Amino acid sequence: MSQKKQVRRIAINTGGGDAPGLNAVIRAATLSALNNGWEVLGIRRGYTGLLEGEVDGEPGIFPLTAQAVRGITHLGGTILGTTTRGNPFGLEVRKPDGTWGTTDRSGEIIERFRELEIDALIAIGGDGSLIIADKLFKRGLPVVGVPKTIDNDLKATDVTFGFQTAVEVATDAIGRLHSTAESHQRVMVVELMGRHTGWIALHSGLAATADVILIPEIPYSIEKIAEKVLQRDAVGRRFSIVVAAEGASPGGGEPSYADESGRYGGLAERIARQIEEATGKETRTLVLGHIQRGGPPIAYDRMLALRFGAAAVRCVDDGNLGTMVALQGDTIRAVPLQDAVHEIKRVPLDSDSVKTAREQGISFGD
Ligand code: F6P
Repeated sequence: MSQKKQVRRIAINTGGGDAPGLNAVIRAATLSALNNGWEVLGIRRGYTGLLEGEVDGEPGIFPLTAQAVRGITHLGGTILGTTTRGNPFGLEVRKPDGTWGTTDRSGEIIERFRELEIDALIAIGGDGSLIIADKLFKRGLPVVGVPKTIDNDLKATDVTFGFQTAVEVATDAIGRLHSTAESHQRVMVVELMGRHTGWIALHSGLAATADVILIPEIPYSIEKIAEKVLQRDAVGRRFSIVVAAEGASPGGGEPSYADESGRYGGLAERIARQIEEATGKETRTLVLGHIQRGGPPIAYDRMLALRFGAAAVRCVDDGNLGTMVALQGDTIRAVPLQDAVHEIKRVPLDSDSVKTAREQGISFGD
């Protein structure tokens, strides 16, 4: 939606789980905006800095100068901080009776933006944060979204930044397990992140030559996994590597949840015990966890993040608001935010990568 007007001041925030490349987006957006003669404000920890005024004794909003974004392209995390519990439409609050409830403080955010005369917000986040950004846009806040998540599950963009770094970390970890698994003739089950999708597991499992890859898009059966392990045994390959996306589930069964919040966890341990029982083979687990999100972004993610940051500023300059920057082919485009967030991107079962894996003899446990 084009709403071109004179821009003087913009703000940037990061929300949801962090991903390698956030700082590169912040740097590129800041330098591009400063280059346009604009002022740039950083909001700490999602919208918290705006609502609370202070975060951990620091001003909740602070100027992003050229100095403030020096030397951060290669740094993991986010200099702005982030939160997965910062939805202004439903913030958790303790009620007078001691129980917990939620409150809607979105109106205060719009009000603060007006008071501070901020012309646009660049909101960097995954689907949760971009849904919030879209709702704020519909209530009058000028927003441009930047898609971030290691899970790569956002529909409108071919790739999100952070994904390739996570794949690299996971590929290295799986690769390292081959020698120890072989020495001990064990089965190793590696649990990877990805939430409701299997992108990280598929790409790293294929790149690191896993024997079995389990993804949420393809329900597995323990019998099929055991069959693959025993087939390998029969031809003298007495070890196997099973890569499991955390959200994978058995046919007709439930995924493995860490707690009642809906967070995934515990899949590797569950599968390992079942494989041990079905095959009689010693089976060990590795839950790779947040190491997939930590540390420096690889060059691909730095490039993508820098391009996204600069493109977001171009959108603001063009009055192209209520949009999200997206990579399509090799072009960065602006797509309507509401189209970008209405559905997650799952691994297509007829994709070239799935076919390639099957043709290499990799089992999906189906
Ligand atoms: O969405 C990114 C992600 O890392 C998922 O892959 C994972 O399920 C989740 O976040 C973990 O969230 P938390 O940071 O709350 O542990």
